Amino acid sequence: MKNIKLILIFFITLSLTVIAQKKSFKERADSVLALMTLEEKVGQLVQYSGDWATGAETSRPKEGSDELIRKGKVGSFLNITGVSKIKKLQKIAVEESRLKIPLIFGLDVIHGYEATFPIPLAEASTWNPALVEKSARMQAIEASAAGINWTFNPMVDIAHNPRWGRIMEGSGEDPYLGSVMAAARVRGYQGNDLSANNTILACVKHYAAYGGAEGGRDYNTVDMSERNFRDFYLPPYKAAIEAGAGSLMACFNEIGGVPASSSQFLMTHILRNEWKTDAFVVSDWNSIGELIPHGVAKDLKQAAELGIKATVDMDMESNAYYYHLVDLVKEGKVDIKFVDDAVRRVLIAKFKLGLFDDPYKYCDEEREKKTIMSKEIIKATKEVALESIVLLKNEKNLLPLSKKLKSIAVVGQLAKSKDDPLGGWSQKGDSNSVVSILEGIEKKVGKEIKINYAVGAKFKGNDKSGFKEAIKVAKKSDVIIAVVGEGRYMNGEAASRATLDIPGVQEDLLKELKKTGKPIVVVLMNGRPLTIPWVQENVNSILEIWSPGISGGDAVADIIFGDYNPSGKLPVTFPRYVGQVPIYYNHKNTGRPHNPNDHYTSYYMDLENTPLYPFGFGLSYTTFEYSDIKLDKKEIKMNETLKVSVEVKNSGEREGSEVVQLYIRDLVGSVTRPVKELKDFVKINLKPGETKKVDFIITPDKLKFHDINMNYVVEPGDFKVFVGTNSIDVKEASFKVIE
Ligand code: BGC
Repeated sequence: MKNIKLILIFFITLSLTVIAQKKSFKERADSVLALMTLEEKVGQLVQYSGDWATGAETSRPKEGSDELIRKGKVGSFLNITGVSKIKKLQKIAVEESRLKIPLIFGLDVIHGYEATFPIPLAEASTWNPALVEKSARMQAIEASAAGINWTFNPMVDIAHNPRWGRIMEGSGEDPYLGSVMAAARVRGYQGNDLSANNTILACVKHYAAYGGAEGGRDYNTVDMSERNFRDFYLPPYKAAIEAGAGSLMACFNEIGGVPASSSQFLMTHILRNEWKTDAFVVSDWNSIGELIPHGVAKDLKQAAELGIKATVDMDMESNAYYYHLVDLVKEGKVDIKFVDDAVRRVLIAKFKLGLFDDPYKYCDEEREKKTIMSKEIIKATKEVALESIVLLKNEKNLLPLSKKLKSIAVVGQLAKSKDDPLGGWSQKGDSNSVVSILEGIEKKVGKEIKINYAVGAKFKGNDKSGFKEAIKVAKKSDVIIAVVGEGRYMNGEAASRATLDIPGVQEDLLKELKKTGKPIVVVLMNGRPLTIPWVQENVNSILEIWSPGISGGDAVADIIFGDYNPSGKLPVTFPRYVGQVPIYYNHKNTGRPHNPNDHYTSYYMDLENTPLYPFGFGLSYTTFEYSDIKLDKKEIKMNETLKVSVEVKNSGEREGSEVVQLYIRDLVGSVTRPVKELKDFVKINLKPGETKKVDFIITPDKLKFHDINMNYVVEPGDFKVFVGTNSIDVKEASFKVIE
C-alpha cells in the first residue's frame, strides 16, 4: 500500500512538472504576476546603473542597490560586470526578496566584452553576415561568462550623416545591408537557444530613427515623412525583431514632435499592433525623464504616465517609474493593465533566458577565467578585422609592400597608440592587449626591414613640432606608412562633429611628407567617413581600417605585406566635402537631375554632386571582371520571382574575394523611388583566372515599398536591375512587372 502511494505521488509530481514545463513563457509569467503586489510589479520595471554611468547622474532613491533588491524595487542593473559582483546581487534577489525574482544584467556589448572586435561600422564593411554573426556569438560567449545576460545591441540606426558620432555603432546608410547585419547580430547574441548559459538577450536600438538627427548633432530632433521612415529607417529594427530579438531600446529623440519614449505610434501601433512582438522595451538612459525638457511632460510623474502608456516597459535611470508609477495606478491615472503588460514582457524575457530555472547560470567563476580573452575569441577578432579593412586607393599597385624593402617610415600618433584601435564602447577592452599598427608591422617584418617611427602629428591640437622628425625619418626610408584619423573618443555617443576633416594637423603633416617624394600609404583609423579629397589626390595608397579592435595591428600588417588580400566594401558613402552631407547612394532623382548642359538642374556651383567614394566601394589586390547580366525572364507577374545571373572572373594574379552587389530601380511608381536600392549581395572567393556564376533571385518582397496610400506593395511597371562591384560601377538590364 505504502509503495502504491509512493508511486502515485511520484507520478503526480512528474505530471505536474511536465505540465509546468509545457506552460508557455506567458503562462509562467502570468503565474508570477498573480503573486505580485503593485510595488513589486513596478520594481520589475526599474533599472539602475551599477559601477559607472553612461549618461548624466539622476536623483536616485536613497536605498542602496542591496536594499532595493531585497525590497523587490528593482528588476535590472546595467554597467555591472564580473561574476563575483553579479552573483552577490543575484543572491540577494533570489534568496532575500519576497518573490525571489531573478535580476537581469545588461551591458553595452557593442563590439566585444574584453576581446574587442572592430567597431560595428567596420564589421558591416565585411559584407559578411556569417562572420558578423560569429563575432556576436563570440561576444556573447565572453560576456555571458562574466555574468552578463543582456546586451544593448545591435544598434541598427540608419545614418545619412557622418557628422553624427554614433554612425560608428551601426551598419551605415543602407536599409538592406543594415537589416542583414541586424539579424546576423541577433542570431549571434541569442544563438539557437536563449536559455543556454552562453547566449544573451539582444536589445535592438535605438528605436527609432535616432540616426536621423538634424545636422548630425547627437540627441537632436528627427523629422521625416512616414514613408521615408518606413522604407528606409524602420527595416533594420523589423529585421532584428523577426530574427527574434527579445528587447528594444527607445531612443532619445523625437520624431515629428513626439519623443520616442512617449510615442504611441512607435510602441503601441508599430511594435505591438503591427509586429505583434512580446519583446520588451527599455528606455534609453533617462529618456523618460527627458520628456520634461522635450516639453511633453510637465514633471516626472507625467513623464512616467506617458512612458508606461506608450508601453516603454523598463525605465533606465530616470526614476520616473520608481517614484510615481505606484501612485499613478492608485490614483486611477494609469490602468493597471499597462503595468501588468509591461511586467509580463519583462518576466517573459527572464523566463526565456532561463533565469528562473537557474539564476546563477551566468555565474561560474571557472568559466569566467577560462573564457575571457580566450585564444579562440582573440583569433576571431583578427578574422573580422582582416575582412573589415577597405582598400580605397592603390596607385600602381604600391600595396602590398615588398618584404624586401630596406626601410619603412611609420608615422603618426595613431600608429603607436594601443588605446585608440579599441574604438568607442569598448567595455573591458584593455590597451595592453592591443596590437598597435606599429607593433603589427614590426612583428611582421622582424629584423628584415628597418622601421623608423616618428609621431609626426597627434590627432588633436595644432602642434607641428613633430613634423621635423617625421620628415627626417621619411627621407631615410623607402616608403612612408602614415596612420592618421580619429582618436577613440572622437566618435561615438555625444561625439558629433561639424567638420569631417582629418582632425588636427595630420593632413598638414601628410602634405609635408608628400614633399619628400617618397611613396605614401595612408592608413585611416576613424569611426566615420572623413572628407579626404587631398589624400585621395596625393598619396599612393589608402587603407580604411576604422577602429580595428585588439588585433588591428596584426590585420593591417597582413594586408600591407600581402598575406591577406583586402575585400572590405564601404557600408556608407564618403563625401568630398561636409557641405554635401546628407549624401547617400539611394537618393531620389528629383525633377531636375543634374545635367551639366542645363543650368537649372540640381547641383552645387562649387562642388560636384558625386561622392569621393560611393557606397559599396572597395578595391582588391586583384581585379574582377563582370559579364553582362542575364535574366531568366523579361517579364514577371507581381507575385513571381526573377533570376538574375552574372559571371564574375578574377582577372588578376592573386586569389581574392569580391562582394557582388545587386541593385534595382523602379522606374515609375505611384510615389518617387530611389535611383538605386541594394537588394542582395554575395561574397565570393576566386582563384586567379577563375570564373564563378552568381545567381540572385528577385522575390516580390524585394520590389515592395510604401505606395501612395501607404500600402506595402509591388507596383507593376518597368524596373532596372544592376549588378556590380559597388553602387556606381555596375552592369544593367531591364525587366517588367505585369499585373
Ligand atoms: C546610450 C545607449 C546605451 C545606454 C546604456 C545611453 O547613453 O544611448 O546606447 O545603451 O546609454 O549604457
